[in-house]
Amino acid sequence: MTIEGKIVVITGASSGLGEATARHLAALGAKLVLGARRIDRLQALIDELGNGAAAVQTDVTDREQVRHLINGAVAAHGRIDVLINNAGLMPQSLLEKGLIDDWDRMIDVNIKGVLYGIAAALPHMTRQKSGHIINVSSVAGHKVRPGSAVYAATKAAVLMLSEGLRQEVKPYGIRTTVISPGAVASELPASVTDADTAQRIRQFYDAYAIPADSFARVVAFALSQPDDVDINEILYRPTAQEL
Ligand SMILES: NC(=O)c1ccc[n+]([C@@H]2O[C@H](COP(=O)([O-])OP(=O)(O)OC[C@H]3O[C@@H](n4cnc5c(N)ncnc54)[C@H](OP(=O)(O)O)[C@@H]3O)[C@@H](O)[C@H]2O)c1
Repeated sequence: MTIEGKIVVITGASSGLGEATARHLAALGAKLVLGARRIDRLQALIDELGNGAAAVQTDVTDREQVRHLINGAVAAHGRIDVLINNAGLMPQSLLEKGLIDDWDRMIDVNIKGVLYGIAAALPHMTRQKSGHIINVSSVAGHKVRPGSAVYAATKAAVLMLSEGLRQEVKPYGIRTTVISPGAVASELPASVTDADTAQRIRQFYDAYAIPADSFARVVAFALSQPDDVDINEILYRPTAQEL
């Protein structure tokens, strides 16, 4: 029932929810291996965290880089206890604008990046007969609105992948959690490229977003359960958020 000493790999730890989770889990004694593309940000974070935290420059759209991140954690610590598939982006826009490059990036990072993490972690976790995979969906995985179709579809995919994963890894004692946050303050609105949508989302986040440590506490709750308790889904929002 403790997080202390757990070997935790987090993708997208250079800002927002991933960074807040790294800070929180480090304070609870986890041993962290952090991945993201902005290695300078990760390096500054691990310098601050100490306790043997490591940073590996990782683009989750490259399956070899994701494998390198996770294999490196196992090489250093002998096992992986937790993978948090957190890296993601949200360049929303109306479909009629045809911003296909943004659609591709969301599919590559939000879906394929999660799959590459699962593919890299499962060989270790099935061998260990233990482990915990946390995937990050969104309220948008449950609700779609004009402008959010592709992002919502990627996050709905994460929900389905997580439920399929849950059923498949039962024989190995591996736990799975999918977390669906509402608006949380992070750099996510900056990933919107469409000017009209960017303004709308910025206003929404300014009005409603809650601090990123809300996500970190949810992660810690799921991780700190006894081995025979598997917290599979958590959906949470700012109290003031209607949608
Ligand atoms: N904030 C919210 O309101 C909210 C709500 C629901 C769900 N979420 C989900 O929460 C997750 C974290 O987002 P956030 O809100 O913390 O946003 P954020 O501050 O923008 O952080 C996104 C993280 O993902 C990383 N990332 C993006 N593309 C990547 C790539 N190709 N390879 C590796 N890492 C990549 C970024 O690192 P680099 O740029 O350094 O690579 C960054 O660390 C996302 O999956 C998002 O969809 C957020």
